[in-house]
Amino acid sequence: MRLVVVSNRVTMPERGEKVAAGGLAVALRSALEKHGGLWFGWSGTTSAEPSSRVEPVRLGNVSYAVVDLTEAERQSYYLGFSNRALWPLMHYRLGLTDFDRSDYAGYLGVNRRFAKLLVPQLKPDDVIWIHDYHLIPLAAELRRRGVTNRIGYFHHIPWPSAEVFGALPFSATLISTMTAYDLVGMQTQTDADNLIGGLVALRGAHRDGERVKAGPRETVVRPFPIGIDVESFRKLAVASVRAATQPIRATTGPLGGRKLVIGVDRLDYSKGIVQRLEAFGQFLRSHPEHRGNVGLLQIAPPSRSDVPEYAELDRQSDEVAGRLNAALGEFDWTPIRVVKKAYSRSALAGFYRRAQVGLVTPMRDGMNLVAKEYIAAQNPEDPGVLVLSRFAGAAHQMGEALIVNPYDTHEVAEAIRTALAMPQSERVRRFERLYATIAASDIGWWTSRYLAALTGAEAADKLAPPE
Ligand code: G6P
Repeated sequence: MRLVVVSNRVTMPERGEKVAAGGLAVALRSALEKHGGLWFGWSGTTSAEPSSRVEPVRLGNVSYAVVDLTEAERQSYYLGFSNRALWPLMHYRLGLTDFDRSDYAGYLGVNRRFAKLLVPQLKPDDVIWIHDYHLIPLAAELRRRGVTNRIGYFHHIPWPSAEVFGALPFSATLISTMTAYDLVGMQTQTDADNLIGGLVALRGAHRDGERVKAGPRETVVRPFPIGIDVESFRKLAVASVRAATQPIRATTGPLGGRKLVIGVDRLDYSKGIVQRLEAFGQFLRSHPEHRGNVGLLQIAPPSRSDVPEYAELDRQSDEVAGRLNAALGEFDWTPIRVVKKAYSRSALAGFYRRAQVGLVTPMRDGMNLVAKEYIAAQNPEDPGVLVLSRFAGAAHQMGEALIVNPYDTHEVAEAIRTALAMPQSERVRRFERLYATIAASDIGWWTSRYLAALTGAEAADKLAPPE
């Protein structure tokens, strides 16, 4: 049995690519390196002619098969339908959703081409695991070409209720392609219920608990909250805290004197970065005794900058940070630093361990792996405090964080104050429970649980071991 993973983004280690904080790429690379197999998807680049065949490249125990898109396909499939229609819709942002019929046609066309190029790579015993909203119709396209292998899908982002999803033109057609899968994994029970509810409401599907049927096949829809490689991230944090601390000292002053609040997110409106900056400003206004002795470091690598809403967020975050720094800063203290670039995972781990407060306040998020990374990186004897949005999937598992409503600036500001003032004994108590949770449901647990369910046997350990 071989594992075939398909995702829009494929990160190949030999390219030395920096993987942005959290997210699908980080999770998948760990899973595939462990199990071995084939990773198929977009190369991330465009070429004048669409690829007519793919040639897998083997690196370690993983083969990579990547496809170039044309610029028109990147525009319609990736920037257009995936990221201007599905992304905002799935994050409950109907007002930002922009539906364009030609983008939808491009989306379907790329899924069709992926299916055509993947079929010759498949072996009869392969288990196929497709990831995320870019590739929803892929299983239906593979089935159309006669593929009978087990095919699973994992949805990394939220799935909204039928009322919201139904606003998408062709929503009934698109949602029914989900029934080409044997197993659909969601981040939370709410997401699973929303998808099943959508299939019932929009397609008249029949529901029996976690099983749903709208055609010949029965699909199981179940939550599988994704995790991280807790142990290696912890080790990374221990190893890099010293290196990460040096530059922070240089810009914020001596460690003893100033505390650090950290946010790490792709520059995306779903992450609530602007609202978080405002909340930090509110905190400094309400509690002026903290001025001069704490700083917010927001690391925000740019993302999807060709999409207008992202360009607008880029501008807006600079404006808000500039306004707050000018109003609240001192000649020798800058309250907020927004750094718009990607850091290595090891640098991030060091920053997390150095920070007294981890601010993870998305307006809506499938899981949010930064919340888990922040906890994994802490010093168990003197841990920092996680402030976590109730609209992140992670909040379903991480109730010992300070849970906040990111729309309520005042509440987030007060949580920052509470976190900074929290006695060590309480910090340790909360940290221990959070760490135990994320360690018990780490990336290895997630992969083997999902694959055991997909293969129909509790036998994920039968997957070919790395050669
Ligand atoms: C989220 C999505 C992933 C996506 C990642 C980065 O985590 O769930 O599918 O790869 O964001 O976004 P990008 O558009 O750069 O791939």
